[in-house]
Amino acid sequence: MKRFLGLGLAFAAVLAFSAPAFAADGATIFKSKCSACHGQDGAGSAMAPAFKGNAFIQNSSETDIAQVIKNGRTGAEKKYKQFAIAMPKQTLNDDEIKAVITQLKTWAK
Ligand code: HEC
Repeated sequence: MKRFLGLGLAFAAVLAFSAPAFAADGATIFKSKCSACHGQDGAGSAMAPAFKGNAFIQNSSETDIAQVIKNGRTGAEKKYKQFAIAMPKQTLNDDEIKAVITQLKTWAK
């Protein structure tokens, strides 16, 4: 288990350093548009889920994640009972969404 964790961390470090330059944009977009709810560096807050170790981000395709960002997740679709608010739809273009998803995937690993 310890060894597995070490490997995972090494892999995450490699990913973090080999991420293409536009990943920086993902971090910037996140900071200005998402961090108020999702917390600094995707750590989560009392309002919205964390992206660190997030199973939905780990297991979902880019298309499915983009869907949540574009359309939000409200009403019957809402998944987390512990957060009182819903996920509001975000106005980002496709490139911005792609960059932000790259950032989320990095944190979720
Ligand atoms: C006003 C607060 C708020 C803002 C701003 C916000 N979110 Fe969310 N987000 C939420 C909440 C609350 C949820 C949980 C909804 C639920 O219960 O399913 C959520 C859920 C998500 C999910 C699904 C996570 C999961 O574990 O299922 C993704 C992906 C996501 N947000 C991405 C983003 C991105 C990217 C941005 C910025 C572009 C953003 N959010 C901005 C409040 C916010």
